[in-house]
Amino acid sequence: MSREQWGSRTGFMLAAVASAVGLGNIWRFPYIAGEYGGAAFLLVYLLCIFLIGLPTMIAEFSIGKKGQLDAVGSFAKTAPAKPWVIGGWLGVITSFLIVSFYAVICGWVLYYMFSYMVGSIQQVEAGGVEEYFGGFIGHDFLPVIWQIVVMAMIAGVLYFGVKKGIELSNKIFMPLLAVILVVLAGYGMTLDGASEGLAFLFIPDWSALGDPSLYLAAIGQSFFTLSLGMGIMVTYGGYLSKQTGARLPGTATRVVVLDTLFAVVVGIVIFTAVFSIGMDTAQGPGLVFVVMPEVFNQMAAGGTFFAIFFFFLVFIAGLSSAISLSEVSVSFAMRQVNMTRRKAVLIVTGLITLFGIPSALSQGGPLGDFLIFGLSFLDFVDVLTDSYFLPIGGLIVVLFVGWGWKGNAAFEAADFKNPTLGKFWLFLVRYFAPIMIIIILLANLFGIEA
Ligand code: TRP
Repeated sequence: MSREQWGSRTGFMLAAVASAVGLGNIWRFPYIAGEYGGAAFLLVYLLCIFLIGLPTMIAEFSIGKKGQLDAVGSFAKTAPAKPWVIGGWLGVITSFLIVSFYAVICGWVLYYMFSYMVGSIQQVEAGGVEEYFGGFIGHDFLPVIWQIVVMAMIAGVLYFGVKKGIELSNKIFMPLLAVILVVLAGYGMTLDGASEGLAFLFIPDWSALGDPSLYLAAIGQSFFTLSLGMGIMVTYGGYLSKQTGARLPGTATRVVVLDTLFAVVVGIVIFTAVFSIGMDTAQGPGLVFVVMPEVFNQMAAGGTFFAIFFFFLVFIAGLSSAISLSEVSVSFAMRQVNMTRRKAVLIVTGLITLFGIPSALSQGGPLGDFLIFGLSFLDFVDVLTDSYFLPIGGLIVVLFVGWGWKGNAAFEAADFKNPTLGKFWLFLVRYFAPIMIIIILLANLFGIEA
């Protein structure tokens, strides 16, 4: 059976962007940046993105292009009987765990969109959104209902194979999301307190750099937002044919730059608003959900329209990322356990839903007091995967490409036009990225102060 291939290099790039841009940019980036002091975090994050994330993305594409299979298969094929395939397995586990809580957050977004449509959030008085949000996420079962709605949509898309429709809608909705974010950032700059917000995001407080967990948070966020460290980009590279003619380094650079622009613009939207409302930047996972309604409710005209549009687009961005994440487990179940696609979809999404329920109930609801290492269930699964599993998956990828491949194989697969850049990439993949990832992981495991 011949495998599907990307129709064009633009199609390949857009698919990668659609996977990358999601709740990581809109929900996770601002709250993590807010917790770790803003600009100092942004600086370390940008270094991680360009010196570790970008080279890792090129490495993942290369493995897929060479193996022409999904992550586990590509590893197994390019390096038979070697331990590297563990990287593929780890990716399957990680993707399963990530979608389990990702769908919960998508559920929050959908609930918000719905609440604006029926007119309930608009009734909340200025300053009251935090309580409104707390009431929702702490409810006995509502977050689970919305999580299940989201998982059913994911299952539906995978079951009926309307992936093409999703890809098409990405071409329309992604750019619209970019437009609305730029408009909101422009609006944010007109608010009182905007300059404080911009200073928080762009003028570093150097003392924040002494905290080793900032580096872990930055590297984890950079892998998460770029969809790296679990074989998604290996799988995408696996659909590349020679004829497509996409140059991996150029495509990866575009994906990374676009994803980073989304995050920075979201940062401007959120932090100008946070300071204008006079809120704490370290709100945790609720940040976007508390700040944005305050902004929309304050708008003189069109607030409701903007809000519905905004939450709808965020939802689509989240859903497309969740679909790409679920696909890892589904295609694994199909190949490894030899199930039909439909059976695999039902079983895998069912299991993901069950595993996500404790996350949905952990934010003040029935499992609110159940803590693991002092973290709620949702935060625990989030930190475990994003800050540990993804960097470890990325480490396996760069070690494999930098050291596991003989001779010029890595060079050939990556196909750099400019040999100097190619050498720099190889240096990053062989030395810089693995050493930095190891240092950051060890420093955090053993609590070493920087
Ligand atoms: N990058 C997506 C986001 O920012 C989430 C995501 C999709 C992801 N696929 C992934 C994260 C693979 C890690 C690995 O929302």
